[in-house]
Amino acid sequence: MHIDPLERKWIFVVFAMVGIMLIAIFFTALVQRVHPPSNVETIDSASLHLTQEFAEDNLGVHRGADAAVRVTMVAARYGFYPQHIEVPAGTPVTFRWATIDVLHGVHMARTNMNTMVVPGFVSQVTTVFPEPGEYPMFCNEYCGLGHDHMWSRVTVVPKDQWSGPKVATVAADKKGG
Ligand code: CUA
Repeated sequence: MHIDPLERKWIFVVFAMVGIMLIAIFFTALVQRVHPPSNVETIDSASLHLTQEFAEDNLGVHRGADAAVRVTMVAARYGFYPQHIEVPAGTPVTFRWATIDVLHGVHMARTNMNTMVVPGFVSQVTTVFPEPGEYPMFCNEYCGLGHDHMWSRVTVVPKDQWSGPKVATVAADKKGG
């Protein structure tokens, strides 16, 4: 079969492009742990505040029995609550969000964090903050006139300087006393 040299060149170019894209997909998925958020868990947005997990006193940073760091937040026009949290660097942190009103999105630059927060569902993403610093958490789904101003602060501190889950401790104290 005769293949024109120019055609042969373009066959090579196309295979190279597909190869580069496949390498990029596998690199981001396996090395940088960037995956499409795929947690499917339903929740009633209207009674969020009555659930154990998303009750106001239970929002914020928690540490599980397995020492895993978990953050529970509520998205609402126009902010993520609590509006400021502190988490350790170099540790897997699992974020869980629910919205009390409309569709929101969560984006944190320099991390793999980018998910929609859909009414009626719990969104969950696990990330590792590689280095300490301030990580603004932005809404990236248009949710109303205040969308541009919808953001919260995430302070990432060195692992050995992290003082633990403040919010959870407060909640536990309240229950105890
Ligand atoms: Cu919330 Cu845009």
